[in-house]
Amino acid sequence: MKPVKINEGIYCLPAIDWNLRDFHGYATHQGTTYNAYLIVDEKVALIDTVKKEFVDELIDGINQIVDPKKIDYVVSNHTEMDHSGGLSKVMHIIGEDKPLYCSKMGHRNLTKHFQKKWNYQPVENGEELSLGNNTLTFIETRMLHWPDSMFTYLKEGKILFSSDAFGQHLAGLERFDDEIGDVIMPHALKYFANILLPYAELILRLVDKITELGLSLNVICPDHGIIWRKDPVKIINAYIEWSKQEPRRKAVVIYDTMWHSTQKMAEAIVFGLSDEGVDAKAMHLRSYHRSDIITEIMDAGAILVGSPTLNNGLFPTVSDFLTYMKGLRPKNKIAAAFGSYGWSGEAVKLINQELEAMKYEIVDPGLKVQYVPSQKALEECYQFGKKIGQKLLKLG
Ligand code: FEO
Repeated sequence: MKPVKINEGIYCLPAIDWNLRDFHGYATHQGTTYNAYLIVDEKVALIDTVKKEFVDELIDGINQIVDPKKIDYVVSNHTEMDHSGGLSKVMHIIGEDKPLYCSKMGHRNLTKHFQKKWNYQPVENGEELSLGNNTLTFIETRMLHWPDSMFTYLKEGKILFSSDAFGQHLAGLERFDDEIGDVIMPHALKYFANILLPYAELILRLVDKITELGLSLNVICPDHGIIWRKDPVKIINAYIEWSKQEPRRKAVVIYDTMWHSTQKMAEAIVFGLSDEGVDAKAMHLRSYHRSDIITEIMDAGAILVGSPTLNNGLFPTVSDFLTYMKGLRPKNKIAAAFGSYGWSGEAVKLINQELEAMKYEIVDPGLKVQYVPSQKALEECYQFGKKIGQKLLKLG
């Protein structure tokens, strides 16, 4: 591991996971990084660790700066194992009695995860810890995105160690926003859409809280991806915009197909939407990963979900997608269902039930076509697309 200096005495220790392609159901097409941080002052503090498989790299990185035994404090901003996996080995090396700072929920969760009687120091929101010339302030960020989550703010350098927030899954040698440029933004959006979206309202409140606390930020250091030092306000403003989930005149048609009938329907529907002036896109569930589809629908005003009926039920990838979407709860969309069938044809009804459970406005009972769509049926699909497009445009 190659430590990267952020400021005098402040380092990023990035473990680069080039080969990761699946992060608990999120397609990491270009890997990821796990960033720990080291602050060397009169006291030495380590903020977060890395995934267990990379802990030896982390120890090596610390050794390039300071003897790990000289670490006085460990801060755990978040219990999830991509940041705490290395904790056991780190504590073993630096001394099991070293103070371990975490939120109250972090105390509970770390205890359950590791079953170790470490020297826990659960902190209150706003509590401070002096390292000498630098002071850490702990900021509770419960449910962003776990109950234990917190930020750590370094007052003197105005550096925010933001845990998962403002992160991106991307493996690479660039460490800072000014080294990578705007190509990072789609990665940040995908991360937001797939990790933080259910907590969008909390994010808006958190931004208010940071403003109320009067915290100014020179640098934002997330636990994944690049560090925001050139323009930290840019990612904060992007989070505010994404959290609002304002819909555009855009529709995403998500579907799977057995013998191309539902596919033909989807493609005709897309033409109907497009001819109404809607930005429309068809996404086949075995060609696009669920995590990329969620990213795509972030700013869509309409989602149309299609499935053939398979053994009286939904096609498995459609069920998978609906389950995933239900958890992430994207908002401000109208919805409709469609699908082909052979004899029983339950799929449209089942999709509608799922969409209703997600509290979407279902703007049409849905469109079913038996067997292979005829030219007449494809015209109905086209008109179905136009109808949904008109409803979307009426919303403004
Ligand atoms: Fe990067 Fe919630 O862990």
